[in-house]
Order: sequence, then structure tokens, then C-alpha cells
Amino acid sequence: MSPELLTFTQAAPVVGVFDSGVGGLSVLRSLLDELPGERFVYLADEAYLPYGDKPQHVIAQRVHAVATSMHRLACKAFVIACNTATAAAATQVRTQFPQWPIVGIEPAVKPASLKTRSGVVGILATSNTVASERFRLLVERFDPLATVLARPCPGLVELIETSPLPRAEILAHLKPVVDEFKAAGVDMVVLGCTHYPFVTDLIAELAGPDVEIIETGRAVARQLTVRLDEAHALSPMAQPSAVPLSERLRCVTTGEASSFRAKMLALMQGDGQHDWAAVPVEHVDLA
Ligand code: DGL
Repeated sequence: MSPELLTFTQAAPVVGVFDSGVGGLSVLRSLLDELPGERFVYLADEAYLPYGDKPQHVIAQRVHAVATSMHRLACKAFVIACNTATAAAATQVRTQFPQWPIVGIEPAVKPASLKTRSGVVGILATSNTVASERFRLLVERFDPLATVLARPCPGLVELIETSPLPRAEILAHLKPVVDEFKAAGVDMVVLGCTHYPFVTDLIAELAGPDVEIIETGRAVARQLTVRLDEAHALSPMAQPSAVPLSERLRCVTTGEASSFRAKMLALMQGDGQHDWAAVPVEHVDLA
């Protein structure tokens, strides 16, 4: 970690946010909007991307290494902005740091099951999330309300990590599974991987206007607000956009800083709200 990053985290406690790559930025944009008084460090574990088909013990080791670094930086809360990492290791990290506010993310099976009119919900997620015990239990809880069709999308994360986005290839990748959803009468598609909100427009193009697409960023922001409040650690609300993004955010990656930066700009600069080009990005090695 550079002296500049340490100065940033020491100036006032920050919230640590983490994903295997750029996916968690889809959650971070909700956190920036809904918690305008907070400052963030975003960590992308790109050296180990994708998590979606790695063995469980590898993901658990990585989440342990990331959580330990974030804790050392005295982050006041830790957001696991990755469904795969939450399924594999959230319980373990909560045991490791029992006093620390930790917010994980899981596919929005509950809201989709409560809202569906057709009674059929489609979930898109990584292979590891779909195969996890945590996901099985989640689906079981809402089983009486809806039929859940969960489909892994191997390879999709890697396509979304490509800059510029290979849109035609992504459409071709998604078409069979969205066609299957439509044939089964799905009216709610849950994005169960934080990378997928970056291709919502392509999923909507394939699914048509009668299908609603649900992502989880806002729910994570609400949960983080509750957890910070309980810990008496919520920063006073600033006016949205009163503080420039470069004073609210630092990004670190275990991969190459320049490539992360290019992807981040391609995915986020279009929000028109923040100056993403001014956000410092640095490489970090985790033990
Ligand atoms: N973004 C992560 C998730 O929400 C997964 C990406 C990966 O496979 O590395 O599950």
C-alpha cells in the first residue's frame, strides 16, 4: 500500500469494498449515491479473477487475505461486493472478525419471488454461486412462492472484464439462457453476480419489455447504512456530489493498475455524475 493510500485511510475511517474485479463497482455506485458522507477503498482481486469457477478453498484464502488487509487499514466496515465470495467465505470472515460490520451480497431471490406474477424467476450467477449451499438454502426458503431457474454463465465475467465491452459476443453468450427463461415463463431475472449489471441493457434487449431485471446494489447500500448506524460509525450526510470523487475513493488491484483503470473508466465514466478519471488506482500485493 502506498504512503498516499495510507494517508487517505488515516484521514478518516473508510469503508472497504471488495470484488474479484470490476463487478463490485456496480455496487459501489449505489454506495456512493446512498451514503454521500462516506469515503471508500475499493479492492479488486484481479490476480485471482474469475472466482466463479475456482475451488472453494482458494476463494476462502483470498477473502481471508483481502479482509485482513482491509482490517489492517482500519476500515470501519467491509462490503463483500461479490456473490461468489459471500457464498464461499462470508461466514468464515464474520467468525474471524466478530466485531466488524461486514455486509455480504446474495442474489435477490426474495424480492423476485415476492414480486413475480408468472411464478417463475430466473437467476443468472456464477457456477460457484449456483452450486453453493448458501444459495440452495436461499432458494429453498422461497420455494413455495416461486419456481426458481438458476443458470450459471461461465465465461461471462471474463467478457465483461474486457475493455471495450464485446457487446455482440456477450449477446450471443446470453441468448440461449435468456431464451430458455422466456420459454419457461420467467418474468423476473435476478442478476446474481455483481458483474452482470454492466450488461443489463443487453439482457433487457434479449428478454423484452415484459421481463423485469433485478440487481442488488441499493439493497447493499441500505444494509451498510443500518450496520454503520448500529456501530455509531455513520458519517454525517454530505450533499450528494458536494465532495469530489477523488477525495472519496481510492482503488487498488492485485492485477495491473493501468488495465483496471481503463476498464473502470469504460464502465463508470458514462454515469455523468463523477470524475472517475481523477480517482487514483494502484497495484497491491496481498500476502
Ligand atoms: N462479481 C462476482 C460475483 O458477484 C464474481 C466474479 C468472478 O467470477 O470472479 O459473484
